[in-house]
Amino acid sequence: MQIFLDTADIEAIAARAHSGLVDGVTTNPSLIAASGADIFERIGEICAAVDGPVSAEVVATDFDAMLAEGRKLAAIAPNVVVKLPLTTDGLKACHIFAGEVVQTNVTLCFSINQALLAAKAGASYISPFVGRVEDMGGDGLDLLMGIREVYDHFGYETELLAASLRSPAHVESAARVGCDVVTIPPKVFDQMICHPLTDSGLEAFLADWKKTGRKGLA
Ligand code: G3P
Repeated sequence: MQIFLDTADIEAIAARAHSGLVDGVTTNPSLIAASGADIFERIGEICAAVDGPVSAEVVATDFDAMLAEGRKLAAIAPNVVVKLPLTTDGLKACHIFAGEVVQTNVTLCFSINQALLAAKAGASYISPFVGRVEDMGGDGLDLLMGIREVYDHFGYETELLAASLRSPAHVESAARVGCDVVTIPPKVFDQMICHPLTDSGLEAFLADWKKTGRKGLA
């Protein structure tokens, strides 16, 4: 399973990019706005910091303008993935980009039907929003399972990218469902590594070693 960071914070990305654990980055207009950076400059910086796919989202809502914005974003670097909203115009633009071999991430997906249509449009990635489904009292895990089932049933190659994940438990659920990718805030990435028993166990090991009076091994 691939792990993407869901952020436009270049320092947060750079601090984790060389761990071998970060496979890509996703952004959205809210994250770019929060960073205060120019979108073209920031996407360029992120693309230089990570080897993998970097999703950059259009802000246009009509087909022609989406194509123009998507092409401009795709020209920033070879690893840019054009992120498009799951609307009629977004799906039409996705279909055109698929023909041009431009990678796409269809976002704001909240139903199996939407995911099915994105796959038919040739999306490279589909982004169901787990946390926002749960915000509305829905079952985000069930949405992931349904999309996985339908994609596997028909052999669609669109990658299932679980988005709007807000906790390590969300990541574990997405992994168990067989999502191809999870995108997570840096904080959740850090939380995935930590366990209190790892910390207390390491502390005990080192305390026992210190009692022997021996030094480090290097
Ligand atoms: O990038 C899209 C998605 O991950 C947003 O998450 O927490 O704002 O619903 P959230």
